[in-house]
Amino acid sequence: MHISTLTARSFRNYDSLQIDFSPGVNIIVGANAQGKTNLLEGVHFLATGRSHRVSRDGELVRWGRDWAFLRGEITAAGGERSIEAQIPTAGRKSIKVNGTELRRLSDLFGLFQIVMFTPDDLQLIKGSPGLRRRYLDMQICQISPLYRHYLQRYNQVLRQRNKLLERRDKKSLPVWDGQLVQLGSAVIRYRRKAVEVLSRFTAAHYRTIAGEGEEMGLAYQPFWAREGEHPPWREDEVEGIFHGQIELLREDELRRGQTLVGPQRDDLVFTVADRPAKSFASQGQQRSCVLACKLAELDYIHRESGEYPVLLLDDVASELDDERRAQLFAGVPEGVQLLLTTTSLSPLMPMLAHGQVFSVADGIIRKEGKGGGQDCFCI
Ligand SMILES: Nc1ncnc2c1ncn2[C@@H]1O[C@H](COP(=O)(O)OP(=O)(O)O)[C@@H](O)[C@H]1O
Ligand SMILES: [Mg+2]
Repeated sequence: MHISTLTARSFRNYDSLQIDFSPGVNIIVGANAQGKTNLLEGVHFLATGRSHRVSRDGELVRWGRDWAFLRGEITAAGGERSIEAQIPTAGRKSIKVNGTELRRLSDLFGLFQIVMFTPDDLQLIKGSPGLRRRYLDMQICQISPLYRHYLQRYNQVLRQRNKLLERRDKKSLPVWDGQLVQLGSAVIRYRRKAVEVLSRFTAAHYRTIAGEGEEMGLAYQPFWAREGEHPPWREDEVEGIFHGQIELLREDELRRGQTLVGPQRDDLVFTVADRPAKSFASQGQQRSCVLACKLAELDYIHRESGEYPVLLLDDVASELDDERRAQLFAGVPEGVQLLLTTTSLSPLMPMLAHGQVFSVADGIIRKEGKGGGQDCFCI
């Protein structure tokens, strides 16, 4: 899958932009604060219907304007498709696929699959569990409409149930408990299955990156397990365990006015040489784990959907040393479209010498030559 053209109007610091990407490697080079991340943010928005860094869509609209517009022309195995987004400073955004407006935002997922890697992802191992759940959800959502449905419905039920708990409304709780358990258990089953597949891919990539003899593990830690633990459980046990946890924590929940059970409290456990990477792995090992996780995302989506997603790499050159950078590029399968931003070309050459280079300055993009070609553009 690849994006052939991106058009933007009044998006972030872009007044008007049209960029024709190569189906292979694309390098966007520019100094700080010129619009590199903004560009990838636009691509991310077309794939997911939201920004990867802000929750308020209005922030994406160029200052002083009323709305922003984005369009991507996507080439996938199933044919060409165009995705358009109209984003007002306030009010509802509208997203169209091939000219038809989507009724639900979640219908967008899967039409344009991406994997994004930003310096923030280096927090995946040490950062909050929310980051790790997002890592997982982003992948499953892109390949399974049913998972999106369960997750969305679960979140609605969770919000309702939290409102009841806030009001200490004990009588109405049981109605919502049933739905919470049913939907939440479905979410948990999907997640565990995804982690089973992902863990094989991450382990294989980690072996390539770190060398034989040092194993990386990835396990799913459901909400009822203790920190760092992942006890075995059977699929048909989930509902029972879930109900049991509700009973156990009922009084706590009422006291705190908040749901304390469910997949919004799940986590992932990373290990290196069988020890929790969070506390034992060196910074270098943690970075290698994150790299392995990102490369595994590509494999996972490819395995489940038959196509490789587009890989967006935002300024990772600045955070990864030469060796890890080389390992990252070596691990990207051939034929994957790459959109990569950087402040400097030199560390990327000659690895990406065949890449198409674009320069960006103050929201203006210029197509330069091929990275290592005659009209090489150097900074
Ligand atoms: N809504 C907006 N309207 C206009 N300019 C914006 C908006 N949001 C961010 N910017 C500008 O975009 C620039 C940052 O762009 P960014 O893509 O993050 O830079 P970088 O090239 O370092 O990745 C800053 O100069 C910021 O002021
Ligand atoms: Mg940036």
